[in-house]
Amino acid sequence: MLGRRIGSIGWFGAWCATAIVALALVGPRAARSQDLPAAEQAAIASAHPLATEAGHEIFGRGGNAFDAAVAVAAALAVVEPYSSGLGGGGFWLLHRARDGHEVMVDSREVAPSAATPDLFFDADGKPIPGATRRGGKSVAVPGVPAALVHIAERYGSLPLSVSLGPAVRYAREGFEVGSRYARIAKLRERFLQSLPVAARTFLDNDGAPRPGFVLRQPALAETMERVGARGRDGFYRGFVAQALVAAVNRAGGVWQPADLENYRVVERTPLRIDYRGATITTVALPSAGGIALAHSLQMLERFEFADARAPRNAHLVIEALRRAFQDRALHLGDDDFVAVPVERLTSRDYAARRAATIDPARATKSEELGNKRSMPPASGNTTHLSIIDRMGNRVAATLSINLLFGSGIVASGTGVLLNNEMDDFSLKADVPNAFRLRGGAANAVAPRKRPLSSMTPAFVEDEKGILIIGAPGGSRIVSQQLLAILDYVGSTTVDLARIVGAPRYHHQWWPDRVEIELDSFSPEWQSGLEAKGHRLRTVKRKWGNMQAVFKSKANGTVSIANDPRGGDVAWY
Ligand code: DON
Repeated sequence: MLGRRIGSIGWFGAWCATAIVALALVGPRAARSQDLPAAEQAAIASAHPLATEAGHEIFGRGGNAFDAAVAVAAALAVVEPYSSGLGGGGFWLLHRARDGHEVMVDSREVAPSAATPDLFFDADGKPIPGATRRGGKSVAVPGVPAALVHIAERYGSLPLSVSLGPAVRYAREGFEVGSRYARIAKLRERFLQSLPVAARTFLDNDGAPRPGFVLRQPALAETMERVGARGRDGFYRGFVAQALVAAVNRAGGVWQPADLENYRVVERTPLRIDYRGATITTVALPSAGGIALAHSLQMLERFEFADARAPRNAHLVIEALRRAFQDRALHLGDDDFVAVPVERLTSRDYAARRAATIDPARATKSEELGNKRSMPPASGNTTHLSIIDRMGNRVAATLSINLLFGSGIVASGTGVLLNNEMDDFSLKADVPNAFRLRGGAANAVAPRKRPLSSMTPAFVEDEKGILIIGAPGGSRIVSQQLLAILDYVGSTTVDLARIVGAPRYHHQWWPDRVEIELDSFSPEWQSGLEAKGHRLRTVKRKWGNMQAVFKSKANGTVSIANDPRGGDVAWY
């Protein structure tokens, strides 16, 4: 049944070693997971050890999981600036232990009020190359600062300024960049060099820094202090707001001060999915992830199913993803603006009808599914953090500025790197975005609308325990989460490291091909799928940077697992 109900540790050495070793492994990679004693019962999994430490520091000061989430997210903005930050947005699932209250805090970026599809087309009606990814038009109004304030005020137990403390310190005093930062900065070196403020902020003498370089971001420290002292107004009004509007418009954008003043987070009812005895709590629109997950799981429930990586089952998962992503493209968008038949898209009836079109022996060609709405007419770079505290409060948050280093626009004097999330809108049915996702009118640009997302933070609960899980990876977030949930539900024991490290495959309806991670699937596995008619493409880079926390119901222990791919560049 699916209803719409409302959701440590300085292991620096181990974390780095895991990431490096994993690069050389073939097949199911060995993520390192760590079990904590039952008495501990608070755990944080994030993409950077300093961010995890920031959360533990806040636990040490008496903060709860919500304060820790604020601290971790703010720290990630400093130490992983290419992934998320004050200039971005994201989705937070919260579970409050005291009364079981579960909520999705939607801090997705919104289009500015002057945004129209025309901005992205030339006089001949052709899309302007790169306009959704570079320059002022690519930037949507950020939501993360509003979320930090909202979560601290409504759910936290410490003042915001305290929870922001570790991040302010990292920004002001600096931190040593690691090999991941060095590699990503190298990959985006020319891009950053073309943007003087970004180059001054993130490069070392106009070049990608080497590991060990101390990166200081004093302007960002000041901005965070303003938010700590003045709340929303520290970012959405006054000096910072004026600097952001000026920087975006100088780069060709169409922002007005009111776009910032009017930004609000929205509390939404999370999507809840029951699958073979587990309850999954995840995101509602404007992320497509929850609906895609629900539809995929409900189709897969129609089949005998255990190991999601056995070739027969991989075929079924791929077929389910193909259909779920087709629905994403044809139906989904911000439902504050367009009518989306969520109830029907997530109904078991509909899943049964769609599952009946899956041939266990043969791949359906995506074009065979047609381009028409398949629904009956009656009736769419990033980081993740998972946290649980001693009281049982939980947070799963996936946060983004979209592509690596976002739009590259840093407003002078603020240290704030702005997103290029406008690329998550659909310009035209046949114009894919950076993740090669197609979309339709439901996800067209409109003033104050939120672009469709794939970010899918989730809680999974069954008799074994509670799993808090999420990942970056654009459209591939959905398949990562689906595989992890299938792995978790399909086993009577929980090997968290295995779930997070297991090899990944992905399908998204269009392009009609199965993407597989390099060196991860045997030739027999691949030829088994090819024999059914699937087209396979091996992707050179591993994808995702999954972060998971698990609390066992049997003995109360908590464990964490950081994706061994954290050492890789999780991007196309
Ligand atoms: O919201 C989305 O779906 C994308 N902006 C997420 C981007 C992403 O995950 C990039 N990651 N590697």
